Amino acid sequence: MQKIRAAITAVGGYVPDYVLTNAELETIIETTDEWITSRTGIKERHIQKGEGLGTSDMATEAVKQLLQKRGIDPMEIDLVICATTTPDMQFPATANIISDKVGMKNAFGYDVNAACCSFLYSLTTGAQFIETGLYKKVIIIGADKMSSIMNYEDRTTCIIFGDGAGAVLLEPNDEGNGLMDSILRSDGAGRAFLHQKAGGSVKPATIETVMNKEHYVYQEGQTVFKFAVKNMADVSAEIMERNNLTSDDIAWLVPHQANLRIISATGERMGLPAEKVMINIQKYGNTTNGTLPLCLWEWESQLKKGDNLILAAFGGGFTWGATYIKWAYDGK
Ligand code: UT7
Repeated sequence: MQKIRAAITAVGGYVPDYVLTNAELETIIETTDEWITSRTGIKERHIQKGEGLGTSDMATEAVKQLLQKRGIDPMEIDLVICATTTPDMQFPATANIISDKVGMKNAFGYDVNAACCSFLYSLTTGAQFIETGLYKKVIIIGADKMSSIMNYEDRTTCIIFGDGAGAVLLEPNDEGNGLMDSILRSDGAGRAFLHQKAGGSVKPATIETVMNKEHYVYQEGQTVFKFAVKNMADVSAEIMERNNLTSDDIAWLVPHQANLRIISATGERMGLPAEKVMINIQKYGNTTNGTLPLCLWEWESQLKKGDNLILAAFGGGFTWGATYIKWAYDGK
């Protein structure tokens, strides 16, 4: 009998309506469309506008779409894991809020925060519950409202990030498809180069922390870039080697969308032609945990049963990893 694997059986996605273009950014900060495009590949990003809306509202839309596509009732869901760096609140978990908004009353849920790698960590964690036979339907969400922690006076960060959410459903598969392997890594020494200075237990919010703009993303871009290029490419090559995969065996690289130059370097290291690499950074920017599921959402119709996919990410922490998936259904 085949081992029970956790397979993705449906994908949902959502980006807010408002589009913040490079042209609009040129009117806010000292930058140019040419600089942003050549250094990052980004042309525009979507921003969630509106009082009282947060990460859970985008995720709720993505999950509702997923349930509708799969034709299942919210009450059938056993577990919800929300990968996010921008939770609605410090507590309770955003997964709980999403479960309430969607009506997934039989599910328990929790958040995973590993910066840009939270979706990969969550996917691997959620898959364990399926593989053991404990649960039959697990939803993994990747969602971030990066605009909520963005300083729109800092041209080195605000040009990069956008808002968005994606969600996948994991179900048991005994045909040999699903999550095949994962390599997940972290190195906390990297925290110096990408973090949010205040608002946690070490430095709770005060008037001073707000005045000093310490509740925004702080990034030393060049250092993060160097680590990202090396580690994302290395771990992608490692997972290919460990699973005896050549570039011909791989149908798609699904990379974290942080910078087009990092994506290209990873694709080249894996020996993949550009047409096998999912790239939508030009439209959405870096949506942190939205990037990987939003790629799957956009490319779903082109995916075929048995396709070999490598998902790869790098983010704050530092955290990085790669996951090998055999796709379980034909897109429509
Ligand atoms: O997803 C989480 C992981 N994060 C990442 O993977 C991000 C990794 N880092 C990067 O993608 C890149 O480092 C950035 C896109 C953030 C920056 O690109 P860069 O090529 O590393 O630029 P830089 O920081 O070396 O800056 C080069 C120049 C500087 O000017 P000087 O000192 O040479 O005069 C910056 O002040 O570009 C200037 N600059 C800008 N100019 C126009 C920085 N931001 C801008 C801007 N517009 N928005």
